[in-house]
This record gives sequence, C-alpha cells and structure tokens, in this order.
Amino acid sequence: MNKEQEIARRRTFAIISHPDAGKTTLTEKLLLFGGAIQTAGAVKSNKIKKSATSDFMEIEKQRGISVATSVMTFEYNNLKINILDTPGHKDFAEDTYRTLTAVDSVILVIDCVKGVEEQTERLMEVCRMRDTPVIIFINKLDREGRNPFDLLDELEEKLSIRVRPLAWPVNMGSDFKGVYSLYDKKLNFFKVNKTRVEDDVLPIEINDPVLDAKVGQRDAGQLREDVELIEGVYDDFDRQAYLEGKLAPVFFGSAVNNFGVKELLDAFCQISPEPISRTTDTRVVQPDEAKFSGFIFKIHANLDPRHRDRIAFLRVCSGVFERGKFYRHTRLDKNVRFSSPFSFMADSKSVLEEGFPGDVVGLYDTGTFKIGDTLTEGEDMKFQGIPSFSPEIFKELINLDPMKAKQLDKGIEQLTDEGVAQLFTLVSGNRKIVGTVGELQFDVIQYRLEHEYGAKCRWVPLNYSKACWITSDNAQKLGEFIRLKGNQIAYDKDQHPVFLAESDWILRMNRDNNPDIRFHLTSEFN
Ligand code: G4P
Repeated sequence: MNKEQEIARRRTFAIISHPDAGKTTLTEKLLLFGGAIQTAGAVKSNKIKKSATSDFMEIEKQRGISVATSVMTFEYNNLKINILDTPGHKDFAEDTYRTLTAVDSVILVIDCVKGVEEQTERLMEVCRMRDTPVIIFINKLDREGRNPFDLLDELEEKLSIRVRPLAWPVNMGSDFKGVYSLYDKKLNFFKVNKTRVEDDVLPIEINDPVLDAKVGQRDAGQLREDVELIEGVYDDFDRQAYLEGKLAPVFFGSAVNNFGVKELLDAFCQISPEPISRTTDTRVVQPDEAKFSGFIFKIHANLDPRHRDRIAFLRVCSGVFERGKFYRHTRLDKNVRFSSPFSFMADSKSVLEEGFPGDVVGLYDTGTFKIGDTLTEGEDMKFQGIPSFSPEIFKELINLDPMKAKQLDKGIEQLTDEGVAQLFTLVSGNRKIVGTVGELQFDVIQYRLEHEYGAKCRWVPLNYSKACWITSDNAQKLGEFIRLKGNQIAYDKDQHPVFLAESDWILRMNRDNNPDIRFHLTSEFN
C-alpha cells in the first residue's frame, strides 16, 4: 500500500459524553465489532467510577492498563480505526479537551432519558472551536426516554449545531421495537441481547404492508408519520456540512445491547473524514505532504517507581514518522530520535517502524516534552489549537520539608508539563500557585509528589476563580497594569503574564477599565 492509500484508510476519532451516558460501553462494543477485543469488560476496568480519590489512585496504580487503552486501534472494512480514549470524569476535562485536538472527528453519546447534560455542552464547545465533525448516538433506547423529536430540538438548541436524524426509533423503553434506518431503508429489530453481534435486519420500504405485520399497525402508522415529518422538516443529509462541523447526523440505539452499534460504525466508515489538515503558527499542514510533522497531545506518567520515564503521545500530521530517524523538537531547537516508538494495538504495545498521518505514536520520554510540542523534519513551526484553558480552582503550594525543596520543584514542573494542572508564579514573594479544573487533581498531585518525588506539600486555597492571559499593543500600558495589580499578577511556565481574578465581576471591571489590555481565557492567542 502506498502512502496516499495508507492515509486514506485512517480514521482517528474520540467518543465523548457526559459521565454514564454510555461512552465506555459503546467503545467496548465497537472494539468487539472490530475484533480488537474478544470479551466484554476489557475496557470497563479503566473507568473512574466515583470521585473518591482512593478509587482514582487505584486506577493510577494500574496505569499500565490505562496507557494501553488510551488509544485503541482496530481494522474494519479495510479501514484502520483509532479511537482515542477520553476520561469521562469532569475533573479531568482538560485532558479530554487536549485529546480532542488530536482527532479528526467525534462521536457524541447522549442518554435518551437525560438528554443534553452539562458536560455534553462543554465538550461540544471545544468541538465547535475547531469545527470538528460530530456524529450523535442517542443511547439507552431500552429505557423510557424522552420524545425523540424533543431530544433533537434540545440538541440543536443547547449544542448550537444543526442535526439530521439518519435513523428513527420505533418506540422506546419496554415497548422498544427497533430502529429504522432512514439512510438505507432497513428496519433493525430490537432484542435484549448483550452478546449478540449479528443483527436482525429487514430491508423494507416504509409503505410495505410487511411493516404492519412485523411491528403492528399502530407502530407502523406512527413510524410512517414520523418519517414523513422528518423528511418534510429536515433537508437531505449534507455530508459536506457534517465535515465542516455544521451538521450532526443522529443515530439511535442501545450500546449495552449491541443495538444500533453496527449501523453507527458502518455509517461512520462511510461519512467520517480521513486525516485532516492542521494549522501551525506559520501555515496549514496537509497530511499528504512529503515531510513528517506531528505534535504531542498527551503525556502519561509511568507510575512504576523503577521506571521514571513517561510516555508522550504523538499525533502524526504529515509525511511518515520513522523509527530511529532524527526529528527537530522545535520548542527546544534540538534534534531528537526515538529507537523504540510504539503503536497501540489492542492491549499490547508493539514497536512501530512507520507511522502515517492519523496515527498516534507512543514515545518514551525522559522529560523533553511538554503538551503541544511539535516535531518536524527541520521546519520551524508549532501546531496551534492546543491551548491551556483558564483553571477554575487555585491553591498555593506549600513545601512541608525544606530539605526536599528541589524534589518538590522538579516534581511540580514535571507534573504540570504533563498537563495534570497549571503552574503560575506570583510576582510577589515568588509563590507557586497551582490551578486546576477539579478538586481531584490536588489530591492526585499531592499523592504523586510524595510517592514519585519524595516531596511533601500542603495546599492553601486561594480566592481566585479565573486566570486570564494578558497582552497589549502598548508595552508601557501593560507594564503599568502589571505593576499596579501586584498580587493579582502571576507568570505561567512560559513567562507569560496572567491576571488572576477573584470573580467574573472583577474580571469584567478590569476589562472595562483597561481598554488597552486584552484578557484571554485560553493561553493561545494572536
Ligand atoms: P460512561 O463511560 O459514559 O460513563 O458510561 P458507561 O458506558 O460506563 O455506562 C454507564 C451505565 O449505563 C452502565 O451501567 C452501563 O451498563 C449502562 N448502559 C450503557 N448503555 C446502555 C443501554 O443501552 N441501555 C441501558 N439500559 N443501560 C446502558 P452501570 O450500572 O453503571 O454499570 P454496569 O454495572 O452495568 O457495568
């Protein structure tokens, strides 16, 4: 197979959802269809069920497994499909946002009983920032869910995206009979069955009397009415609009019962995008370019105390990544080479000789990488769209053992490079402030500092609720603002000044009073 064919057959995507909507279950069923795993339950073991720290630590201890399932690759219909796992827990939302920078499309899972939930909205905002194509899977149709038309309206309203159903359910809950595909005019009959892989599908015209015989007159009549309404209200499915992130096709099913999953996967194979182009600070990079380029979107610590190395996840964007070849680390302006890069096949790691655009390559890292770092064959550029977002919870890091100050510094540097949290230094007193999106991270950092670096710390909660990166065309005005605000100014790890605001109101007031200063809620701005 030549390079163009290799690129054309890659599909790299993430499944996202509010916790409990069924992301893990769907992932697992897709892997079963793809033959990547043989038994149900293999993916489940990684899920962070509760917000209790002890649970999380247990999971952390088994990081070996979670690294293996961070990227799940399988072959289906001659396509090479890479599913990038995202943590469902909201305290790790930033990790999910960053993973979304490395995918070409997304499947969003919605619980038909709960509809659009808080985390769904935030995740979709991130997708919209990059116009990521989204397919929606409405799950748990074996439960008494909401009216499907109402669900569609809610999706459009809350997620600010147009939707187009490509399938339609015949009832829900205890009376759920199946799903009719508006795409290829087939009726898929529902049976409670958690292990079935084969579907019971009948190709049928909507007006065929066989439909009445199969589902009963009342339901057949309702389906005809619904389908007529859908065809009247919604335009034909426009793939281009989907690829541009403007239109989301909608499917229905029940992941736990394997129902509707194959239809979803088949449609995904037909419509989802090949590896797409990506923007750098200097130009747009196309996947079919001759020279290799890629970026790091995730760093995973190795919690085995005997191996302090970390694993960096590289998304290949163009050219071909080759084992043992020198590449330029553009941030450090130095050449680096990897003798044992690996691919993530099922639950085993294997050494990788070549990686194509769309692929994710695992690199052993001894501390050279930060999230967002770019590798090239020499060109000086940096991939964009991997920003840090303003944290929401801030605490000061206090060293409890003066003899271990160095270990603490090194530990917090490395953990924040991994993206566990963000580190800011307050101008006054050189105090270290750690910002996160969830409380859980503070426990994780404290635990890891102690167990991996031998440093003990405690946290002092601070009153801030937002961190805004500040810039201005007027250097003097910016300098004055920084001097004036003293305690509210800190520097991030790249020495960019950040304004720490106690409330939205204070932020607004400062914005209004300082028209020359720009306040950015993400670290990436031009
Ligand atoms: P998540 O990754 O999005 O957080 O969700 P996950 O797949 O873990 O699913 C959350 C719960 O919803 C699980 O139940 C799962 O079995 C159930 N579920 C998934 N798909 C369906 C479906 O189509 N119908 C119904 N009725 N339930 C579904 P749990 O009780 O939390 O876990 P378990 O004990 O069943 O493993």
